[in-house]
Amino acid sequence: MCGIVGYVGPQEALGVVLEGLRRLEYRGYDSAGVAVRIGDPAAGGELATARRAGKLANLEKALAGQPLPPSTIGIGHTRWATHGGPTDRNAHPHLSTDARVAVVHNGIIENFAALREEFEARGIEFGSDTDTEVAAHLLAAAYDDLPAGPDRFAEAMRAVSRRLEGAFTLVATHADEPHTVVAARRNSPLVVGVGQTADGVPEYFLGSDVAAFIAHTREARELGQDQVVEIHRERGLTVTDFAGTVVEPTAYTVDWDAAAAEKGGHDWFMLKEIAEQPQAIADTLLGRIGDAGELVLDEVRLSDQELRDIDKIFVVSCGTSFHAGLIAKYAVEHWTRIPVEVEVASEFRYRDPVLDRSTLVIVISQSGETMDTLMALRHARAQEARTLAICNVNGSTIPRESDAVLYTRAGPEIAVASTKSFLAQIVACYLVGLFLAQVRGVKYADEVGAIVEDLRRLPEAVSEVLLQMEPVRALGRSLASAGTILFLGRHVAYPVALEGALKLKELAYIHAEGFAAGELKHGPIALIEQGTPVVVVVPSPRARESVHGKVVSNIQEVRARGARTIVIAEQGDDDVVPYADHIIRVPRTPTLLAPVVTTVPLQVLACEIADTRGHDVDQPRNLAKSVTVE
Ligand code: M6R
Repeated sequence: MCGIVGYVGPQEALGVVLEGLRRLEYRGYDSAGVAVRIGDPAAGGELATARRAGKLANLEKALAGQPLPPSTIGIGHTRWATHGGPTDRNAHPHLSTDARVAVVHNGIIENFAALREEFEARGIEFGSDTDTEVAAHLLAAAYDDLPAGPDRFAEAMRAVSRRLEGAFTLVATHADEPHTVVAARRNSPLVVGVGQTADGVPEYFLGSDVAAFIAHTREARELGQDQVVEIHRERGLTVTDFAGTVVEPTAYTVDWDAAAAEKGGHDWFMLKEIAEQPQAIADTLLGRIGDAGELVLDEVRLSDQELRDIDKIFVVSCGTSFHAGLIAKYAVEHWTRIPVEVEVASEFRYRDPVLDRSTLVIVISQSGETMDTLMALRHARAQEARTLAICNVNGSTIPRESDAVLYTRAGPEIAVASTKSFLAQIVACYLVGLFLAQVRGVKYADEVGAIVEDLRRLPEAVSEVLLQMEPVRALGRSLASAGTILFLGRHVAYPVALEGALKLKELAYIHAEGFAAGELKHGPIALIEQGTPVVVVVPSPRARESVHGKVVSNIQEVRARGARTIVIAEQGDDDVVPYADHIIRVPRTPTLLAPVVTTVPLQVLACEIADTRGHDVDQPRNLAKSVTVE
């Protein structure tokens, strides 16, 4: 939610900042803006800015017609609007009244109204409707109040940070500071990149995530909560807490490169990421299975005794990650016999869940920055529950604040719609469930080994599905003008239906609902009219009890009322044939693992429908990849 870039170094800053924004645009695309500091470093300088509503391309076009003067210090922003509409006027950067300070911001400043009143009482006129602008005025005032000195700008930022409430990453440049960009973070992401040019000149980057600078360096520094960072051409990097105490940031090397964040010949990032799913699953399994087929999850820093003491599990997450949790419930309960509750993070902490030291709270987040999930995690920790994060972004806030972490290894996911991270999350949940079963001794080693073998076959099964997607694309094109599409599933196929509906809503902007197939007769069946497309995800005929037969009946019920039935069924399941207008086949997969394969056609379907309708598949309207506000 909002992408932020900062740069200090020998390169032309505008180019570096725009390239960073291009890679961060998935975080928000309501507007974009840049500010560079210009003028002789020894004499007084000034700031040059440009901002435009809409996608980054609008800003780039404006800059092509009216370029900014050259500079080696710059900041930039790509916005997901919260306070104030997506207009030029509300686009970041925001300036102080004297235009000597420029600020970009991600998050929500909760006490902005009171601060704004304070300034307005002093006769300061605001140029935007945002919460951010107060930070620019505060920073200018704090700077002016401080004596000249090398730490003046950073100290001004610390003073401002101490006054702000809510969530913020702020990055700022000052006309009188020719060598420095400063930033602050609380409850909102910010990482630092440390690099050098080909001729060995140091350069420093700030970004909402490492994608901002991956084209220049893979050397990153993690910032903690409530910290201020200064990047300075000569002094390099200095990190302090809000009180000014110097802290050493954690260094790490990003394990992917710029090529991983390119489309690689695909029309959309989403298509590339769908194609990468077999690899994402294989990488998530890699190194986590021992020679004897046992689970080796050394990263899960909970002792065997702590794992044995667990008597209840909550899985807490949002959106697609929530669906991963719903799928996990079936397997984890079945394998461990521990009760599992799955809940959306935005509800979890408000209903006072019963948690204690023997509760395990698993939080799932691709980005590791989702504010609802982070707040739920903090609530769980405050109640002394054990916490385990399943996360795709190394060093992000959620894994840093959890007792234990299991990273999915899906690589960078750029498309707003989660695909490969989702399958990797499901697989990571399977690993956790099996590990618990192993440690607690509720499954024999050979039983664990047999399931592990099934997991190892998943990349191949998904590759097989991907080879057969042409008819699904054709089907997608034929569904592009549908007004409503319903998704049904039972047992593990129910959360898959929910995910199919979510994908369609977010990409194609078509009304879609996922239902437990058994619930149909309790109301939703009234939605069906002649020709309504209904996608039915059919559990394996080998699924428990008579689940399969019941779903076949559900297909007949909707068809009898005029539905056009699109059936996802495993190879050899002939029972569905008489009632299916279209059949999408998937390989035979063990019941509990089947969601990994049945999800894939639904991703492709949504992508194709959205593309046919002329939508930007990677950047759907109103959305952002990482939701860092509650
Ligand atoms: O980064 P997270 O996994 O915490 O994000 C959670 C949701 O915002 C995310 O899954 C969202 O629903 C996706 N855009 C769905 O495709």
